[in-house]
Order: sequence, then structure tokens, then C-alpha cells
Amino acid sequence: MKLGKKLIEVALPLDAINKAAAYEKMPGIGPHPRGLHLWWARRPLAAARAVIFAQMVDDPSAYVDVLRADPKLHRKAETALKARMKLWEEACALAKKAAGTGLSVPEPGPACTLDDILADLERQRLFRIIEDLVLWENTTNETVLQAARDEIWQSWRRACAESADHPRANELFDRKKLPAFHDPFSGGGALPLEAQRLGLESYASDLNPVAVLINKAMIEIPPKFAGNRPVNPEALKTADLKTWKGAQGLAEDVRYYGQWMRDEAEKRIGHLYPKVEVTAEMTKARPDLKQYAGRKLTVIAWLWARTVKSPNPAFAQVDVPLASTFMLSTKAGKEAYVEPVIVDGGYRFTVKVGKPNDVERAKNGTKLSRGANFQCLMSNAPIASDHIYGEANAGRMGARLMAIVAEGKRGRVYIAPTPEMETVALTAQPTWKPEVAMPENPRWFSPPLYGLKTYGDLFTPRQLVALTTFSDLVQEARERVQRDALQVGLPADPKPLCDGGAGATAYADAVGVYLAFAVDRCCDFSNTCTRWVPGNQKVMNLFGKQAIAMTWDFPEAAILHETVGGFVPAAAFIAECILKLPSTVSGNGSQQDAMSSRVSAGKVVSTDPPYYDNIGYADLSDFFYVWLRRSLRPVFPDLFATLAVPKAEELVATPYRHGSKEKAENFFLDGMTQAMHRLAEQAHPAFPVTIYYAFKQSENSGDEGTTNTGWDTFLAAVIEAGFAISGTWPMRSEQEYRMISLGANALASSIVLVCRPRAASALTATRREFVAALKAELPQALAHLQRGNIAPVDLAQAAIGPGMAVYTRYARVLDAEGRPLSVREALALINQTLDEALAEQEGDFDADSRWALTWFEQVGFAEGEYGVAEQLSKSKNTSVSGMVDAGILESSRRKVRLLRPEELPANWDPATDSRLTAWEIVHHLIRVLAGGGEGAAADLVTTLGAKAEVARELCYRLYTLCERKKRADEALAYNGLVQSWPEITRLAREGSKTKPRIEQRGLFGEPEE
Ligand SMILES: C[S@@+](CC[C@H](N)C(=O)[O-])C[C@H]1O[C@@H](n2cnc3c(N)ncnc32)[C@H](O)[C@@H]1O
Repeated sequence: MKLGKKLIEVALPLDAINKAAAYEKMPGIGPHPRGLHLWWARRPLAAARAVIFAQMVDDPSAYVDVLRADPKLHRKAETALKARMKLWEEACALAKKAAGTGLSVPEPGPACTLDDILADLERQRLFRIIEDLVLWENTTNETVLQAARDEIWQSWRRACAESADHPRANELFDRKKLPAFHDPFSGGGALPLEAQRLGLESYASDLNPVAVLINKAMIEIPPKFAGNRPVNPEALKTADLKTWKGAQGLAEDVRYYGQWMRDEAEKRIGHLYPKVEVTAEMTKARPDLKQYAGRKLTVIAWLWARTVKSPNPAFAQVDVPLASTFMLSTKAGKEAYVEPVIVDGGYRFTVKVGKPNDVERAKNGTKLSRGANFQCLMSNAPIASDHIYGEANAGRMGARLMAIVAEGKRGRVYIAPTPEMETVALTAQPTWKPEVAMPENPRWFSPPLYGLKTYGDLFTPRQLVALTTFSDLVQEARERVQRDALQVGLPADPKPLCDGGAGATAYADAVGVYLAFAVDRCCDFSNTCTRWVPGNQKVMNLFGKQAIAMTWDFPEAAILHETVGGFVPAAAFIAECILKLPSTVSGNGSQQDAMSSRVSAGKVVSTDPPYYDNIGYADLSDFFYVWLRRSLRPVFPDLFATLAVPKAEELVATPYRHGSKEKAENFFLDGMTQAMHRLAEQAHPAFPVTIYYAFKQSENSGDEGTTNTGWDTFLAAVIEAGFAISGTWPMRSEQEYRMISLGANALASSIVLVCRPRAASALTATRREFVAALKAELPQALAHLQRGNIAPVDLAQAAIGPGMAVYTRYARVLDAEGRPLSVREALALINQTLDEALAEQEGDFDADSRWALTWFEQVGFAEGEYGVAEQLSKSKNTSVSGMVDAGILESSRRKVRLLRPEELPANWDPATDSRLTAWEIVHHLIRVLAGGGEGAAADLVTTLGAKAEVARELCYRLYTLCERKKRADEALAYNGLVQSWPEITRLAREGSKTKPRIEQRGLFGEPEE
């Protein structure tokens, strides 16, 4: 069997993928599959889709013979080859001319072949497919998806043909059936979902029951009932008029029974959610309320402040509020705030509209500083955190109603608390509450510090009553769905969903899953760790981050109302998200420990394991598990057998669970090695395995270069398990360049490792051999990445791939004492070689630019000593005065300074510049790009012609220097120019037909002979 490389082992259109991934994260893009249920650290669908596609399609180098046979492509390649050969010959001639002059010019390298060009052209075609495939608007575009699926099939048929002699050919290479897909750490399900969308039968497994259920809801249930019409009596009236595609019927039922549950809940608990009456008395102090006088307004939320007894002995009996703010609305023109009034040895809250007189006081509430530090409303005495801990743990922390948010004619109306509203909340008598304890781990859970020990303690009594009512109604809705399903003729198969049923019972179970998800969505909005956001005047859910954090004041959302946190909007949103699921090929979600799972056998694997100690999935998910268990235990008795989410086997390096930092690290390394081992031995042999790994800010940056325990440990596990790494691709889902992250490699959200089982014949190498191989291979790999226009910010991370490919090619690398070289040591050597390779590229630049690079590294655009500049110029074969003439330098009073882009002359014309330098080209391009955008930069590139290309190479070098020196602003500019490069050159190509180019000059400035 001879199988070539897959596209992901050679090239990826990273920029397009990263852009699409960032877009997908933006708020307001509408329903998204992730909206089915919350999960932490989800991968963007765009990245998942692109990676699986590129992992399954062949790199064109594997089928050049086919490409050669295409006459049209052949002709195109021949034309391109002629142009490339001309450039190559020019470069050879130049190198010859420079030989012996002491000047360094770039090595022309080997001549390009027709096969190289054919493969390049074909890669561009595949890139275009990926560029379409990753766009959010194409998520459900069948034409685009089908084009990708066709491509996957073509590669698959080639693999089958070439593997006819494989010992397990019948089992592994059936040309009529694509291999299935498996993700053993499936979490929120992005990867299995996208594999399914690309036409693969998809298997998702996870240790966590909540994750398993999410995956069932994403990939297992929808295909099972695809194309079915809804069973609810309402839809029955129109069912014949409409054809129901995919999961439309299912979505419609979720919407309908969600509304039914709300209406039933209204009958049972509606009395706990009364409207608020605007009395004549209220309007006296609030003329803005006059329009509502005598009317009852629907309440959207009740805003509460937690209280403790005052630390001031004079007010020891007063429960004083811990209010982090008194602002209710900061919306311009609609400002509202709480103003406490001290009366009769106590206080009451009033609500005012308009801007507060004392803005700071209203903004800060009774809070003095960060954390649990407040001020007594009665006496201004500070309330220290110790007092709050003491009060809270003695069970004396209460809550007091601060304001009522009601629905007005045009927007929110804020009303002061009324006695009725406080009383009604107190009448709520829950009959059940989750008793599972939260972990004593303040890193992720701060409420236990304040005596809120169980998940049940995170809810008000009214919230508990409401959530248990809705949870009970999931059962009742299931029974209704089953009855209705039988009525419309779904098979009376009693087999439940968990046993593989597909009839009326199973369908009822299925609808129940989404309705239970709607209850969970409400849990996220209906608990005492939510916040009221005065800016957009909405309830903010608990899980804005990957932790449960204590709150001092909180809104209690009106769950029966059609507002954020309401049950009907939750069910309707989930219904919309269901419509974004492919629901075509079959899927399967199961609970498995990745350390022992056998599901990957013969499957394509892409996975995203937990990142070291980043997220406590099992602990966090207990918040939802306890409610899901209550709603769905009869539906999935095995999945919900335990009281809480299983934790012991969770591959997270948490010292508090394992006893110490060291034990936690060992557990993680051993467990991850086992899990990776499973993949290395089971995954389908035709495909590399792709593994995402979150890349966190580096921990230190010493002589060894940047290191990171989580990353090193994980890489060690992958290699130990028998994998060789053939690529590393940084995937970003943020387009923002956070300044603090510069120099710390924090930009990539994750790195995708491309792995193949290491050859059994792998040899042992010495450290010296390893370094020699790095030196021989990394520069070329670097040039390849740069030609692919990788963003400078991603270059170092992407270059780890080729470096690791060298390291993992060997069974072991031994140092001089015969000790195996650790991953950390190997990474340090890779970084060092990469640095050298980048520095070597300096040889490609003219003397002035080489001087400027060295100078820039030392002082940037600041002033430096003339003497030093002059001395440096001698070693670089240039002169300060010459560079002043060249227009890149300012020299005055014994000082020298490089000119910033904005200081360069706007009327610069490269055609008349007698000393044209790469440095000038870069900085003029940056100036023009900043002022006139890509169009203006393209005009300049047109004038510069082939000379412009050198600018990009210099940009990479400059970016690396800035990153190291933490010069954020400059780094941004260089990164920006490279990122705009494809568009600039595209525009330049279009414009070049009409614009004159500068006369071709030699590298040394003289006109070409
Ligand atoms: C980074 S998350 C996966 C996120 C997922 N790719 C997504 O887009 O939502 C890692 C997952 O590994 C799971 N996990 C942790 N230990 C595990 C184990 N021993 N076996 C299987 N899954 C495990 C966690 O429950 C978590 O869902």
C-alpha cells in the first residue's frame, strides 16, 4: 500500500479558516448548534469542518499523474512554469554575479518542476473549496457542502484503489462506504457534528453524561427522525400543506410542547409571578409613571441585593445590602437608578429616573473595592470580607428586593419594591432542591466560601419551585408527545430511545431531551449568580465564564414571560438551533472513557482533549447534571445512574482532586498517554489523526525559550503513545490582537497537531544528528509557510510542526550522555533553529535594510548614537549618510533615528528612487495601507512590480523582532501588511494592466542590463 500525504499535512488556507472561526464567535449571528446546550471551550464549527476536510482529501502531490493528464491544467501549469523559470534564472544569474563580491544574495534553491506547479494549482483549487466551506452562511448550503463531500469521495476512492493489497482491505477500504468518524473527547460536539455534515457516519464519546447528551441531541437524534412531520395537534392542521425536511418537524414539536409546558406552568405557579400595579401614590414621586397609573405591568425581573447584619453595633439588627451597583439602566436618555432612603432606624429603596447627581455613588452601590468589601448603608462603616464570610457561613446572609423591572410601552420601566412583591417571593415553597455539593475549589467555585455549599443553594425558593415545575413538566410533555405521535401514526414501538428505538416512545424521549435542555437554559438564567446588565438592561446568564462566581446582587428573571430567561424563548431558540443540524447521515453519542474506549477502531479521528487544568468540566457540569437527571433519568437510566457527574477518570490535572500538583501532572500524563495510545493503534490507517490542543500563555521565557507545562506534557503524551507529528496549525478564533499577549504566543486559541503512527522502523538519533536535520529542513519549511502567506503572528507556532516532524521521526534522540532528549529540550532547539533560519533570511535583503534591521532590533524607532550607527553601517557595507539619502534615516546632533512610516514623504515615487531598499518598500506600504487602504497599497505594489515581494519576507522578520521586544504597535502594522497581502496583490494584478511599472532594476540599484 502506498498512500500519499493528506492536504492537512502540506498546506491549509489558515487565514480564511481563522477569519471564519472568529466570525462564528461574534454575538448576533443568530441560532447556532452550540445554542442547544451550554458547554465550555467549544471549537468553532468552521475550523472543525476545514480540518476534517483537509484530513480526508489527498494533497495534490499524491496524484500529480492525474493532474498531468488534464490538458487545460497542463497548459496553465506550463505558462506558470515559464514565468517561474525566468525568475529562477534571474536569481541564479544574480547569485553568480554576487559571488566573490562579499555581498549576500538569496540562494535560488532548486529549479521548480512542472509537477510542483500542477500540485500548487490544484492546491489552490482545494483552498477555494475550503474558503467556501468555512463561511458561516454556507453552514447549511447543500451545493457547497456537496462539492466538499465529492472531493472527499474522490480521495477515498483513490485510497481504496491504492490499498487493494492491504491485509484488511475488505474491512477498511470499501470504495462504496466512507469510513466513519470518531471523537473520543467530544464535549460540546463541534467535531462530530461537522464530520456528519461532511457525509461521515459520526461517533461521539465523552466521559461526561451532559456532553454525551449534547452529542446525542446534535448527531444521533435528528437523523433518526429526519423528514418526519411534527406530531403536535397544531401542526397537524397544516401538515399536509407542507413537506418537512430534515429536523424541521422535530424543531416544530420542541417549540409547540415548550409553549404547552409554559402554559401548564402558568396554571401551577402563575401566582408566584404577579404583575406589578402602578398606583397613584407611586406616580407622585415619579411623573414618568403617570402614563401607567392604575395599570398592572408585567414583571421582567426582580432585582435583589444580598444582605448581612451591619458590622456597626448601633445597627447590628439591620440587614444591610451588599449592592455592587445602584444603576439600573445606563442607556442614554433612559437612565434609572436605585436610591436608598434611611428611615426609622432602617432603610428602603426608591427608584429614580434620569442621571444620578452622584454618579460614582450610584455606580458603586455599597461596594468599596474589589472582592467582598462593602460599606454599611446605615453608618458608612466598612464591611470587611471577614465579616461577610462570618455572616454568610453562620447562615445570616439574606436578600432584599432593590427594584422591579417591568415591561413598559417602549422599553423597561423600573419600579421601587412593593411589600406585595417581597411577600409573594417568600411564599414560594420548593419541594425539591439539588443536594450535590459544589467542590471546595475557589478557583472555579467561589459561592461555597460564602456558605452556599450545594448547587441547590444557588437558587431562590421561587426559582427552585419554577425549575422543579418545568422539570416535572418534561415528563408530562413526553407522555403527551407519545400519545400525539401514536395518533399521527408513528410506530407503536415501545423501545425507548436509549435502546435504539425509533417509534413513538423514542420520539417522545427525543423531544423530552430538547425540552430538558430548555429547562437547563433557564437554569443558567434563573439562579442567584446571574447579573443585571444596566447597559443593555438584560439578565446576564451565570456561565459567561468557565466558573461559578459569587454575586452580591442578582436579577430573578420572570421565567413565564417572553423575555431573556423565559422558558418559551428558551425552547424556541433551541428549536431554531435544531434547524442548523445536518440530520442526514446517522450519528451516535455514547459515554466512554477515552483511556479505554475502542470506538476509534478503523475510524477517522479528530479530537480535542481537555487542556491540562484549564477547565473543570465535570465539576462545572454538575450544575446542569442535577437538573437533567431530574428531568430525564427515566429516559437515560444508565447515563444518569450516578448522583453527580463521574470525576475520577476525568483527564484534568487538578491538584485538589489528586492531592498535589505533581500527582495531578502524573495522572494527566499517564491518562493522556493511554488515550493517545488508543488512537495511535486504532485509527484508520489511511488518515492522519488530528488533535486540537489549547495553547495557553507561556509560563516562562528563559534561556530555554518559551515553555509551557501543559503543552510540553501533552506533546510528551502524544509522542510517548507512538505518534509522529507531521504538522502543527495554529487555529485562532479571535481576530483581535491583544497587546498583552505579544511575545507570549497567546494568540492561537488552539493548535491542531497532525499525527501519524510512528514507523516501527524509526531509528535512534544523536542530538547532533537531530540538530543537523533541523538545520537542513526548517529553513525550507519556513519558506513554504511564508509562501502560503501565514500571518507572522502564527509563524512560530506553525513552524513547531516541521520541527516536531523531525524530532518524532526518530524513535529516540539521545544527548551526549546517552539520555533521551525531552520534548521540552527538543522544543527549545526547534525554536532556536527557527530563529536562526529567520535571521539567515536577512541575507536576502539589501545592505541598507540589513543595517536597519539590526538597528531596529536594538532601538526601534527611537534615537541612537551616531557613532554606533556609523560603526554598524561599516559592518553592513553601507553608510549613515547614504541611508539618510535613501530616505530611511534622520541624522542630527550626533543622534540617528529611523523614520516611522507616517514620517516618510507622501510623494515618494519608487521609479525615481535611486537607492530603493526593502526597508523603504515595507514602510511606505504600511504608510499607504494605513492612509488609503488595500487599494492604495495595491497601486504602489503595481508600480513596484516584482520588488514588492521582498516586503513580505522583511515583514516576517520585523514581526518576530517586535514580538520578542514586546513592541505591540509596530508588530500590529507588520502583521497587518502580511495579512492584507493576498488582497493587495490581487488588486495589483487587476490594476497592473493599466498602470506603468517601474523599470526593472538589479538588486544593487543599477538598471538591469
Ligand atoms: C476540550 S473539551 C472538548 C470540546 C469539544 N471539542 C467542543 O467543541 O465542544 C474536552 C472534553 O474531554 C472530556 N473528557 C475529560 N476526560 C475524559 C476521559 N477520560 N474520557 C473521555 N472524555 C473525557 C471532557 O468531559 C470534555 O468534554
